[in-house]
Amino acid sequence: MGKKQDELTKEKQKNDNQPQETEPTKEEESKLINLSKELLKVDVDSITDEEEAKNVAEDLRRVIRYHDWRYYVLANPVISDYEYDQLFKKLKDLEKKFPSIITPDSPTQRVPKGLIKEFPKVKHLVPMLSLDNSYNPEDLREFDRKVKEITGLKEVEYSVEPKFDGAGIALVYENDLFIRGATRGDGEEGDDITPNLKVIKSIPLKAEFSKYGIKTAEVRGEVVIRKDVFKEINEKRLEEGLPPLANPRNAAAGALRLQDPNEVAKRGLEAFVYQLTYAVDDKGNNLLGKKIKKHSDAIKMLYDLGFKAPYKELKVCKNIDEVIEYCKEWEEKRRDEYPYEIDGMVVKVNDISLYDILGATSHHPRWAIAYKFKPRQATTRLIDVVFQVGRTGAITPVGKLEPVEIGGVVVSSVSLINEDFIREKDIRIRDLVLVERAGDVIPYIVKVIKEARTGKEKPIVFPKNCPSCGSPVYKLPGEAVYRCLNINCPAQVIERIKHYASKDAMDIRGLGEATIRKFYELGFLRRLPDIYRLPFDKIEKLEGFGKKSVENLKKAIEESKNRPIYRLIYGLSIRYVGLATAKTLAKHIKCVEDLKDWTVEDLMKLPDIGPVVAASIYDFFHNDENIKTIYELKELGVKTCEEKKEEVKHVLDGLTFVFTGELDCCSRKEAQEMVEKLGGKASSSVSKKTSYVVVGKNPGSKLEKAKKLGVKIIGEEEFLRLVNQS
Ligand code: IVH
Repeated sequence: MGKKQDELTKEKQKNDNQPQETEPTKEEESKLINLSKELLKVDVDSITDEEEAKNVAEDLRRVIRYHDWRYYVLANPVISDYEYDQLFKKLKDLEKKFPSIITPDSPTQRVPKGLIKEFPKVKHLVPMLSLDNSYNPEDLREFDRKVKEITGLKEVEYSVEPKFDGAGIALVYENDLFIRGATRGDGEEGDDITPNLKVIKSIPLKAEFSKYGIKTAEVRGEVVIRKDVFKEINEKRLEEGLPPLANPRNAAAGALRLQDPNEVAKRGLEAFVYQLTYAVDDKGNNLLGKKIKKHSDAIKMLYDLGFKAPYKELKVCKNIDEVIEYCKEWEEKRRDEYPYEIDGMVVKVNDISLYDILGATSHHPRWAIAYKFKPRQATTRLIDVVFQVGRTGAITPVGKLEPVEIGGVVVSSVSLINEDFIREKDIRIRDLVLVERAGDVIPYIVKVIKEARTGKEKPIVFPKNCPSCGSPVYKLPGEAVYRCLNINCPAQVIERIKHYASKDAMDIRGLGEATIRKFYELGFLRRLPDIYRLPFDKIEKLEGFGKKSVENLKKAIEESKNRPIYRLIYGLSIRYVGLATAKTLAKHIKCVEDLKDWTVEDLMKLPDIGPVVAASIYDFFHNDENIKTIYELKELGVKTCEEKKEEVKHVLDGLTFVFTGELDCCSRKEAQEMVEKLGGKASSSVSKKTSYVVVGKNPGSKLEKAKKLGVKIIGEEEFLRLVNQS
């Protein structure tokens, strides 16, 4: 053993050239931001020379990659979404005009056309082993003891990082290009899911491994979903009557297997990479453990190459005591505030050249071990089931549990989702159940411990009438939930007000469930606008309402009048409209009430709004009571309109207009501005790509040209109809 160590030291001395930094410096960042601003001014139509197109496209790619990195890796963008979209569109237009300049690593090449019928199998460059687990400091000390025994070292340096709870992937890069990505599969062979991985923007399509002398690289990682994104997905699913996904891992794994990469792109997936498993130069030499000596260096290198690598989370620990301390710090403090679900920490020997010496068992390497956090699962008894009516009338069965502590929180109720879920898991009252609490997600029944049954368990019976208002309940076609259809049902009204006042919506502190209930019973609060007409003279006299609390409530209500309009939209309890959809809508309108003029087709032109969501928004804004509510809120001082700097409705997206002759409605410039405001383009010359030529009085030669090229010709009236459809 001693000899081996000597050799290692020599090896270390020979190779002192550290990997070169490639993360942009401050000056480079400033240059890229300024270049972005310049590129925003470029008129793609005016570029006719292929060489120029190539240069501009390369600049656009550089800045888009930089902004992807800021957004998807650092979560800290430096330009607006709108500006980003414009840059992307310019690149797309340019590549459409000059197809020969398209490169495989262009950001436009992420989303392919068509469905994937079957994922081909692919052999991993290095088998994907799993990790041995440890559950306490003693296990970690035992691991350290074995590592020292095998290597003959007195002290071993470790690298410790989070254990991401997602779906494992292996990415292969050749000559700096991402060429293949696969699932773990059986460890030897996985499914080639390259098209689905290409849409994940935290996976660089191009990474300059060549700077480090690497020709072929394999990187291991984990596809994950942020906790808040996952929460929104589940809220949406519950609204749609679908069973929630148990955890972000299932959500990520499920999304990766979708047949349509366009769909995958919408699932909010991100990819962490945590291991460089293969790095070979152009002569076939393996650089791992040689030129790339430490795992922490490899992570820094991947981070610098633009990957989402846990560089900031990783700690190099001098000994096992430091390892234990760092694991505890994450388990006790950092785990909950970390935006991603993690189920433990991974402890790795930092010196990669020791990997070969340590070797592996048939299942896992001896140079790494997972430190698993205490499971957030516990068994307890289901004592009763109550039925809650939600803000959209959905009736949810809620299980009352014998209180049990799970990961420091006492859990006494659990959602039973819907009738199908209860039947599928065969859940009965008095059953012993295994409950899981993942992150800040609602607790969930993993399974029933059927072995513990005594025969006294009782089936769960769904009510035929709404537990709040008594009206009959219905299961609508295609839905899994029962609903109370009475919109004046007290439970629904209270839930809607509760939602309106909630933190993510209008954030009215002091207007919580108990207060809302009380005000409802006293007749003060029956509809949303009543919030702004509360009789404070009477409230002051109520028991439990001191002067101070009334003052605070008044203030909070007053402040709520000025929230961004996406929060108001979210607060209105429109079915299927979560925060993300509310933000999308807000981006494309000036006033909330304008939505009453949008058609289902208009709505479907917005990103991520499909037919079901569009129909629901349309229905909401075609209901007199809802419109009355919005106008009343407006009259009471609630902000419903917002000036937008870059207000663009996308009804004319992708369309190009050319004007000829005089218009009655407006000047040429005004007409062009109208088009641009709606996402269209105004051009001065007619080409085959022109969508419409608008003809006014005394048209010029453009009319002739349009006829010749077969471009659609319209008059002023038709033009105004197009513009006003928004
Ligand atoms: S290292 C050769 N590091 O956990 C083993 N794995 O239970 C290399 N995982 O299959 C694995 N985060 O999918 C490693 N920071 C991390 C990880 C991590 C999550 C997953 C990985 C692995 C599984 C083992």
